[in-house]
Amino acid sequence: MGLFTKDIKTLDDLFVHTLQDIYYAENQITKALPKMIDKATDPQLKQGFETHLRETEGQIKRLEQVFEMHGHSPKAVTCPAINGIIEEANELAGDVADKEVLDAALLASAQAVEHYEITRYGTLIAWAKRLGRDDCAQVLSQNLEEEKATDQKLSDLAGSHVNRQAA
Ligand SMILES: [Fe+2]
Ligand SMILES: [Fe+2]
Repeated sequence: MGLFTKDIKTLDDLFVHTLQDIYYAENQITKALPKMIDKATDPQLKQGFETHLRETEGQIKRLEQVFEMHGHSPKAVTCPAINGIIEEANELAGDVADKEVLDAALLASAQAVEHYEITRYGTLIAWAKRLGRDDCAQVLSQNLEEEKATDQKLSDLAGSHVNRQAA
């Protein structure tokens, strides 16, 4: 089901489509993070990616819970946006020779992923509330809070030493 096709008629359809989109994205992220863990040199960055991989696995479980609560089976639809962000991250990492500059590149790519997730969860929460599904909004908010906290940790790392070591 593509966005803006006639398959999406109501806000409810759009909510479910976007849930399928972020479900796909989170699953792709669990595949991308182990590669980023391998490539990262800075111990705090590596640790941060490891923590977020475990969180992401929990986020997928929460999404499955929201699907069930809303009367749908969990299903993924291809999200070209996350594929593009991950593809760019891989290309960039492949082009960087210096270890510390590589950490800065990985950090920047990870922040792009977090910001994408934050915008999607923000939208899903707003729509869930419009649809009278405060219960779904509450579960989705837990994912949003983890993404925001991860983004903040990455910003702190960037400000503290990763970018400075790369300079
Ligand atoms: Fe996530
Ligand atoms: Fe995330």
